[in-house]
Amino acid sequence: MKFFVDTADVDAIRDLNDLGMVDGVTTNPSLILKSGRDIIEVTREICGIVSGPVSAEVVALEADAMIAEGRKLAEIAPNIAVKLPLTWDGLKACKVLTGEGRMVNVTLCFSANQALLAAKAGASFISPFIGRLDDINLDGMQLIADIRQIYDNYGFETEILAASIRTVNHVTEAAKIGADVMTAPPEVIRKLASHPLTDKGLETFLADWQKTGQKIL
Ligand code: E4P
Repeated sequence: MKFFVDTADVDAIRDLNDLGMVDGVTTNPSLILKSGRDIIEVTREICGIVSGPVSAEVVALEADAMIAEGRKLAEIAPNIAVKLPLTWDGLKACKVLTGEGRMVNVTLCFSANQALLAAKAGASFISPFIGRLDDINLDGMQLIADIRQIYDNYGFETEILAASIRTVNHVTEAAKIGADVMTAPPEVIRKLASHPLTDKGLETFLADWQKTGQKIL
């Protein structure tokens, strides 16, 4: 499973990237707002840190304007994935931009039928939002499973990018289903390493080590 970091915080990206945990980055207008930075400038900096796909989202609603914004964002670096919303205009823009050889991440996907359309429009990535479905008492993980089945049935190459991941269990479940990629905030990725039995075990080992009176160095 590839790990993308869902943030525009360059320090957090650099930190995780140094550990080899970053296969790509996803941003959105809310994350750009949170960063307090200019979209072009911060996206360029992120592309200089990470060699994998970096998603940058358009904000236009009409296909021609989305295409123009997408081309401008794609000029930032060769590893830009233009992020387009799953609307009819977004699908039109997806077809054009992928036809030009650009990577496209179709975002705000909340149904299997939407994911089917994105694959047919040639999307490089489809982003089903797990947490936002769970928020309204629907089953985000079932959507990942449905898309996996549909894409496998027909051999679609669009990668399933499990998004809106809020918990470590989301990561495990999406990996079990076979999502190609997951994108999560840095704090969720860091939590993947935590286990109370690891902490407790380490505490006991260190206490016993003290009692031996030995040193390794
Ligand atoms: C994905 O690309 C989105 O940026 C993100 O995962 C949305 O997550 P949220 O629902 O927690 O805002």
